[in-house]
Amino acid sequence: MNERLLLGVSGSIAAYKAPLILRKLTEQGFSVPVVLTRAASRFIGRVTFESLTKEGVYDNLWARRQALSHISLLDGTRLVLVAPATANIIAKAASGIADDLLSSILLAADPGKVLFAPAMNQGMWENPATQENVNRLKKRGANFVEPGFGKLACGVTGEGRLAEPDEIALAAERLARAHPVLADKRIVVTAGRTEEEIDPVRVITNRSSGRMGTELAKAFARRGAEVTLVAGEISVPLPCGVNVIRVRSAIEMLAELTAILPSTDALLMAAAIADYTPVQSASSKLKDKDLSIKITRTPDVLGALPDSSAVLIGFSVETEPDWTKTASEKLSAKNLDAIVANPATVIGGEQTEAEIIFTSGKRMRCTSVAKEVLATKLVEVVAELLADKEPHA
Ligand code: CTP
Repeated sequence: MNERLLLGVSGSIAAYKAPLILRKLTEQGFSVPVVLTRAASRFIGRVTFESLTKEGVYDNLWARRQALSHISLLDGTRLVLVAPATANIIAKAASGIADDLLSSILLAADPGKVLFAPAMNQGMWENPATQENVNRLKKRGANFVEPGFGKLACGVTGEGRLAEPDEIALAAERLARAHPVLADKRIVVTAGRTEEEIDPVRVITNRSSGRMGTELAKAFARRGAEVTLVAGEISVPLPCGVNVIRVRSAIEMLAELTAILPSTDALLMAAAIADYTPVQSASSKLKDKDLSIKITRTPDVLGALPDSSAVLIGFSVETEPDWTKTASEKLSAKNLDAIVANPATVIGGEQTEAEIIFTSGKRMRCTSVAKEVLATKLVEVVAELLADKEPHA
């Protein structure tokens, strides 16, 4: 059964973005009843929401059909998301005023299970009354997706703009699906291909798209982890809601990882590091008719990392028919907790094939799955490895 998340919409011009948020939440697998305030239904009609949710649209505390809906709607609800949240609904929630359906729900809800996405004019947002209300709600455990800076409906540019629908939907999912082990754990994922410079315009690299790494970063972020993505060149969009560090070469990757490893709980090394680098790169564009370049191995990044207590997951790609053969050797040579073996045919594609090999010798096979699905499986694998490392009470 889908998890339930309630979307409350209050009367800001940004209410026109609420259907986009609703669609994203249903795509993420949530069942989403919608509650509209009177002012919200002046900005956007209930029919729009009715066409996007199977869970009903509620707008009246007094309708016979909706009697006690402020209590029944909270049954089994993981999170109440108020998006957009006006200064008025924030003030009502802070003061405990319950004079319509949405404010009654907010009074009945556990404050820690409420997420506000404010949207208003900059003056209203910066007004001490609003700021005090926001701080009072935060002290009670309520969550906020801070409004952004940008052009506001009143014509001025300032703070108060509703955060992007993607960002709001991810913040909601992080709270509603927070993993008991992974929430707030610091996860580092590397992705994409590194490049080694031959001359200022040419590089040695490989065909990695960065899809596996970015899917992993998204999957961990959705479960509430603090994710850092260390990315070389990638051919897919960067995910939102994660910290991104861009690198070019193997040496740069090694330097960044060495710096963040001491504060990392798990590192997943999905990047395809270019294995070779010119012994010397030319300072200007090479023009020779025939050219031999002396190349050497790049540093083994995983092998050169300082000792740490982080869970380490490597990836192995081979072109041989038995593409799992060398993976166990890499697992022990690189001192990893697990390694994900892949055939080279999956590079760049949306689908993958993998065997996850653990130090215990246990193996898990995933045949013809989307990289997104493998990423979800690896989230569980890492959660188990982290739980095993945690001292038991
Ligand atoms: N890796 C690394 N440093 C490198 C090359 C690879 O840390 N210079 C990491 C990869 O990110 C991956 C794992 O090591 O997680 C295995 O990478 P793979 O390319 O399969 O193996 P290599 O160690 O490069 O060995 P070979 O090229 O001989 O197969």
